[in-house]
Amino acid sequence: MAREKCVLAYSGGLDTSVAIQWLKDEKDVDVVALVVDVGQERQDLEFVRDKALGIGAVESICKDVREEYVEEFLAKALKANALYENKYPLLSALSRPIIVKHLVEEAHRVRAKYIAHGCTGKGNDQVRFEVGIAALDPDLDVLAPVRDWGMTRDEEMDYAERHDIPVPTSKDNPYSIDDNLWGRAIECGILEDPWAEPPADIYTLTNDARGDACGDAEYAVISFEQGLPVALDGELMSFHDIICTMNDMAGRHGFGRIDMIENRLIGVKSREIYEVPGALALVQAHKALEDLCLERELLHYKLGVEQKWAELVYNGMWFSPLKEALDGFVETTQKLVTGDIRLRFFKGSCVTVGRKSPYSLYDYNLATYDEADTFDHKAAKGFIDLWGLPTKVWARQRRKVGKEGEV
Ligand code: ARG
Repeated sequence: MAREKCVLAYSGGLDTSVAIQWLKDEKDVDVVALVVDVGQERQDLEFVRDKALGIGAVESICKDVREEYVEEFLAKALKANALYENKYPLLSALSRPIIVKHLVEEAHRVRAKYIAHGCTGKGNDQVRFEVGIAALDPDLDVLAPVRDWGMTRDEEMDYAERHDIPVPTSKDNPYSIDDNLWGRAIECGILEDPWAEPPADIYTLTNDARGDACGDAEYAVISFEQGLPVALDGELMSFHDIICTMNDMAGRHGFGRIDMIENRLIGVKSREIYEVPGALALVQAHKALEDLCLERELLHYKLGVEQKWAELVYNGMWFSPLKEALDGFVETTQKLVTGDIRLRFFKGSCVTVGRKSPYSLYDYNLATYDEADTFDHKAAKGFIDLWGLPTKVWARQRRKVGKEGEV
């Protein structure tokens, strides 16, 4: 009888390379490797694809899904100003569901019984893979070799050497890195000491803001249409190209580094370093435009929705009814989020210095203190009387019982 097939999310690193051999030997399956291009720093993905065949995958596929990642995933994230715990733009959490989608597609194509991923048992990514797969096809079985095999890093290296699997040289850095178009995440090594300042050499997308590399101030005008960027400095560009250009520009000026303690879904606090120059600059610009164009109650309510959206996506619930319903809400809010935002980059900072929109709700005549003022100052008196009425009633009652000013 033919062996069952298993589609493996393959990165080319040690874990997933060893996993190919291990799945064959221990689970007796034919491995189909899938490399998904979400814009990770250009390692040669064709080389990675061939490497899987060299190790013994029966088939190896490299899929470039960058366009879909931008249009379907990053677009929703930007419209939702998605920042987990108000800081992290979710670069890893956003890439997992698109990888899952393609794993499931391939599994159906080759009639695989299994999907495998290379996550450990301690992170969020295992949750994102497995819950995502369950949402798209609850009958597929998931294999998690790295979580199951219980090998230390050294044992894994020995295993690799025994099976002629190329191992990284000892010069390879001690960090665990994940990256794509939306930025770069760096964990492990010395970074596990939350007091230790990150070494300069972990960064690849951003200059040191203190160094000369940053140079003089630079301005960028980002034009949005219905919540998405469509032009840079007046030049029409795809969202994909705007992300890449903003990564370059903001990164050059040393903007976009995050050093944070983060609450993982599995209950552990971890120290995380991110480089997200383009993502942070774009979220900042998008928020600035919403400040101008969204009516107050909508803007305030949306802040709560954004937080929930980010939490759901962080927690592996991209494919879920609530996340989809919130997408619907967010989409409605974006109809009039059209206009230009001017950013200034300088030595690690990104400041919004200008904004304009045909749908701006900013009314100069209402805002000004000059003679053009049309605001009805007298109306303020009645407004405050009624707004403050419950407070007055409360204060009188407290005075009556001798507890003036006390709750
Ligand atoms: N802590 C981040 C998250 O859970 C980044 C994870 C990065 N993954 C990795 N394998 N290094 O979204």
